[in-house]
Amino acid sequence: MSKRIDVRNLNVYYGDFLAVEDVTMTIEPCSVTALIGPSGCGKSTFLRTLNRMHEVIPGARVTGAALMDGQNLYGPGVDPVQVRRQIGMVFQRPNPFPTMSIADNVLAGVKLNNRRLGREESQDLVERSLRGANLWNEVKDRLDRPGSSLSGGQQQRLCIARAIAVKPDVVLMDEPCSALDPISTLAIEDLIYELKNDYTIVIVTHNMQQAARVSDKTGFFNIAGTGKPGKLIEYAATDKIFSNPANEQTERYVSGKFG
Ligand SMILES: Nc1ncnc2c1ncn2[C@@H]1O[C@H](COP(=O)(O)OP(=O)(O)O)[C@@H](O)[C@H]1O
Ligand SMILES: [Mg+2]
Repeated sequence: MSKRIDVRNLNVYYGDFLAVEDVTMTIEPCSVTALIGPSGCGKSTFLRTLNRMHEVIPGARVTGAALMDGQNLYGPGVDPVQVRRQIGMVFQRPNPFPTMSIADNVLAGVKLNNRRLGREESQDLVERSLRGANLWNEVKDRLDRPGSSLSGGQQQRLCIARAIAVKPDVVLMDEPCSALDPISTLAIEDLIYELKNDYTIVIVTHNMQQAARVSDKTGFFNIAGTGKPGKLIEYAATDKIFSNPANEQTERYVSGKFG
């Protein structure tokens, strides 16, 4: 559980279009890494390369390497499905299966991996995952209700429960709070802070206060103009990025003097 990711000279393409250029960074285990930067600079694209979700788009590919505890995720013979089991993902809009029960939503990923669970094992896993996602107390009396019966913030925590039920090493989150109200956002931020004890967390956020609140390290991506590739401009401890960045572009972005 909780592994290190070493990204080495990663270039990310959509067909001929180089969307993200030459990223090298180490993402530490048991920590939260935030990715910030203006819209279109490639944060989501880069994030999706970390669990090989990028390549499901026709023509999409990468060059370079991403190693998890030393093993290249893009090495020959590596099964992308296995990579996605080890590196889970939570999306911008909560996407529980609406008609499926809360309990079955938690188990959906596990079942997708063809694991057959006994009744007791299932119940255990549902409880453990929902507790891990800070949702158990709110739903324990209505586990058979549909996922869509929950509020947006609860649905997002249900999606986090579903992601951690498969016991991943890393959890990627792409703007997980952008569709949520401020109270639900704080609940997710508290949860992210707790999850880092067990997982490596990488979160894309357009909310700089959020990056400052939840993350240990922050990567600032930027783009020189439309059609140009996004680049990792600066990557450092979060307090350094926000109080004393080394790069002038970072300084302009975090102080709000940007486009
Ligand atoms: N499926 C796709 N096919 C082609 N280009 C894409 C696709 N998704 C994103 N892009 C392009 O890649 C660049 C980075 O986009 P994205 O990763 O979504 O940025 P961000 O998440 O930082 O807003 C943009 O130029 C965008 O238009
Ligand atoms: Mg994005």
